[in-house]
Amino acid sequence: MQYSTKIKSLYNYINGVYVPKQKVNNYARNFGYQWRDFSRTQIDQYNKSRISKKFIEDITFHEIKSFKDKLVLEIGCGPGRFSEYLQKYSKKLFLVDLSDAIFYNHYKSKKNVIAVKDNFSNLFKLKIKFDVIVCRGVLQHTPKPLESIIQMKKLLNKSGRIYFDIYKPPMLGPLNSKYLWRHIIKIFNVSYDNLFNFLSKNCKSFLYYRRKLNNFFNLNLNFLWDYVFPIYDYKGKLPLNNKQLEEWAIMDTLDGLLAKYDKPYDYKAISNFLKNKSIKIKKFNEKLNCYKI
Ligand SMILES: C[S@@+](CC[C@H](N)C(=O)[O-])C[C@H]1O[C@@H](n2cnc3c(N)ncnc32)[C@H](O)[C@@H]1O
Repeated sequence: MQYSTKIKSLYNYINGVYVPKQKVNNYARNFGYQWRDFSRTQIDQYNKSRISKKFIEDITFHEIKSFKDKLVLEIGCGPGRFSEYLQKYSKKLFLVDLSDAIFYNHYKSKKNVIAVKDNFSNLFKLKIKFDVIVCRGVLQHTPKPLESIIQMKKLLNKSGRIYFDIYKPPMLGPLNSKYLWRHIIKIFNVSYDNLFNFLSKNCKSFLYYRRKLNNFFNLNLNFLWDYVFPIYDYKGKLPLNNKQLEEWAIMDTLDGLLAKYDKPYDYKAISNFLKNKSIKIKKFNEKLNCYKI
């Protein structure tokens, strides 16, 4: 294939992953640690759920089965909760992730998969045009999310489609507990290891007391307890046992508090931006704030 010479000239092949010969600014380093420690947590194959299957089907507006003859790019693949399905349904799947997460991707060595550790916006150098791009849980973590949409467009075939999502701004905006805690964590220079150890020790108690208080008041007051300390609790939302709930809580708390960038956008901001760029939104899911363009 035409890109294989290009890829070999720009990347070294290390442990099943193409790694750039040139240094790349890796602002997503903490994700590498997170996905090393929680590589199996969200993967259906390992947690025996269908949570990620439902998620990828929703995000692709139930069109995943039409990827059969397509060249697909998954941006910010992490350890592969969606790669599991994209790999099954694509003709060829390119995985790209800026962090070491790509080394922990469980599907990177499948026959129809190519894994690249890079900022996705550098992929233009390979001169490949993709039929489908899937980018879930990533844009808000890039320095300029709107600019990232344009970068994705540049990697797309003329008739191709992009499925992406982006966090919605929370109701209280910058006063949301997560954003306040992100400041505190930055000020005190809390590292991944510090927070990981703290959560491993205390997450169970946090969950226990929050749930007790919610029961006592007969109300879900998690948004309030999050000011004491933000913990993601999926009890009653996802079909997980207690051990899994704890694992997901630690993982998503690390994810929410340690990412270098966290820039949410609502539908209005995204649609205005796309309109100015003459890009049509073909489908939109309000609940997930995900788009097909
Ligand atoms: C929150 S994780 C999402 C992982 C997976 N898509 C999911 O939804 O579970 C975000 C991932 O995007 C990666 N990432 C962030 N910026 C990126 C960029 N510019 N290019 C490629 N990957 C990026 C991070 O390393 C991280 O693994």
